[in-house]
This record gives sequence, structure tokens and C-alpha cells, in this order.
Amino acid sequence: MTDIARLKDKFLKELKKEKSPEKRRKICKKYIEEELSSVFCSLKDLSSKERAKVGEKANEFRKFVLEQMSSAKGEAKEEKEWIDITLPGEEPELGSSHPLTKLQLRCKDIFLRMGFISVEGPELENEWYNFDALNFAKDHPVREMQDTLFVKQEKRSALPSEKKLLMRTHTSPVQVRYMEKRRPPFRIIVPGRVFRNEATDSSHEINFYQLEGLMVGEGVSVANFKAVISFFFRELFKSDVDIRLRPSFFPFTEPSFEVDVSCSLCGKKGCSVCGKTGWLEVMGAGMVHPNVLESAKVDPEKFNGFAFGLGLDRIAIIEHKVSDIRLFYSGDLRFLKQF
Ligand code: DAH
Repeated sequence: MTDIARLKDKFLKELKKEKSPEKRRKICKKYIEEELSSVFCSLKDLSSKERAKVGEKANEFRKFVLEQMSSAKGEAKEEKEWIDITLPGEEPELGSSHPLTKLQLRCKDIFLRMGFISVEGPELENEWYNFDALNFAKDHPVREMQDTLFVKQEKRSALPSEKKLLMRTHTSPVQVRYMEKRRPPFRIIVPGRVFRNEATDSSHEINFYQLEGLMVGEGVSVANFKAVISFFFRELFKSDVDIRLRPSFFPFTEPSFEVDVSCSLCGKKGCSVCGKTGWLEVMGAGMVHPNVLESAKVDPEKFNGFAFGLGLDRIAIIEHKVSDIRLFYSGDLRFLKQF
């Protein structure tokens, strides 16, 4: 193989590797200006016979490189001409807030107007805050595996309850976390995600959103509670809804209530959303149990208060007539784009 044939071989290999026409043109330029010009310079050192032979081959190769160069140039031009700078840019698709986020913000806004502040707590919680401090008995069934997502820990059973980790099953532990660091009076809401060990179906998910409320001070009454949540629901549903309290049980409140709101969709006449009853069950609530105040080092002789827990998913389901809670967590854009 002659030197020129070897050079051509190397040139072709380099050219083949490069996809961009602009870069291929540069390779051609390099061969003309550097490689071939040194070949031509060295011709003077050859015998006249050799010089003619090598010169001819070098000229052929030069012609070949120039052809490659002009075709690469043509391609580069063509590629450049595709860029039409007058075209409008590609608009990035804008996302929007999740329906549950929107609802959470609406709720927050109403409570902030009533002087509540919004606080947060950890999703990875310990058994003390989630259960003990809230006056749950040690053998309460809600602590069992089928309800609570416990976190695997070495020697778990030997740990004290403040070290045993779990995914919080409600936002109520933040009541204690907040109270133990401050002196009453306080008015807080705690929006957040909670977790349950559920077999999922259209009305159960392993995680969902709650909005906890707590107001503690001197002489706080059930009447105060009714006033606060009546205002809240009227603002939220933008209609003159009625509130009804039914006796219930929660370990952390005494007395405890289930709160119903008159169905704003049918105006108490009964429809498919309220199951023909005219009422919608929307939250659990009650007067904070003295044991809970004590767990948080608040004097129950001096202070009392009310607490409530609202299921945000449930409100969103009612408002938008969503048939399956799992849709909120599916990430399905066909569902999400409707809000
Ligand atoms: N934590 C309760 C639950 O997840 C809801 C609840 C009920 C919260 C009554 C409260 C309350 O603050 O007073 O089912």
C-alpha cells in the first residue's frame, strides 16, 4: 500500500465516524491544508520518476477530498436552512396544581383569615406521638399491623414507644408536637399526608390528605368550635350550609363528635352524593382530652380547646363527584387536566 492509499484509508475512516456535515467539512479542510500539503512539500525530495507517480496519486486524492468537502458543505447549508428563526419557539407544556393541593390552599386561606397559622409535622412519626400521647390505649386495635404501616427496625419490640417508627396514620400527632414547645393560646391547622395499611379500593388508599385543626386557650367552648367550622364550611362551599354534630369516640377528645354538613349539591333534599340523607359526614372533632394536654405539658386545669380532623380527599371527591379516590394518586393526565 502506498503512503497516499494509507492516507486515504485514514481519511475515510475519520469521515465515516463523523455524522455532522460541518465536522466532516473540517476534516476535509485539515487533510487539504495539513496532510496533503506536507505530501506536496516532500515531492521535491523524490526522484523525478517517483515524484510523477506520487504527485499524480496525491492530486487524485486531493480532488477526492475536495469533492467530499463540497458535498459536506452542501449538506451543512441544507441543515442550516432548516432553522427558521422566525418560527415561534416550542411552548413548554405548563403544569398546574393538583386538585388536592388546590383544595388545601383554599382551606388554608379560610383558616388563616380566622387567625389560625399553618404548621407541619413529620410523615415518619414515632409511636409515642402518633398513639400514646394522644391517649390511645396500649392495646388499641388501630395500632395493629392491618391499620398502621410500621417501619422495620432492629429489636423493634424492645424499643420504647418514642423510638418505634411508623408512617403517621393521621395529622393529630402534630397537635402534641406543637403544644409541647409553646404556651397557649394557639390556633393552628396542620395540612398533611397520612398513611394507612389498606387494601385499596375506590374509597380507600394507602395514603391520603388530612387537615388537622387545634385551638387551645382559656375557656374555649364547643360553641367556639361550631362558629369556626360553620364559617369555614360556608366559605369553602360558597353556600349557606348547616352543621350538625353527632356524638362519637376518639381517644384524644372528650366529648367527641362526627361533623356533618348539609349537602350543598341538593340543598338537603337528598341526592346520590349524600346517599339520599341530605347530610355529608366530613370530619371528626371534639374537645381536647385532658390527658393529651398533659402529654404536651399544658395544664388542663387552666386551658382547654377543640380539635378537628378533616379528610381533604373526601371533600374533593364530594365537590368534583370523583368516583375513585385512587385517581388522585394515579398521575393520569386525562384526570388531572380537568381541574
Ligand atoms: N385523627 C382522626 C383520624 O384520623 C381525625 C380526628 C378526629 C382528628 C377528631 C381530630 C379530632 O383532631 O378531634 O381519624
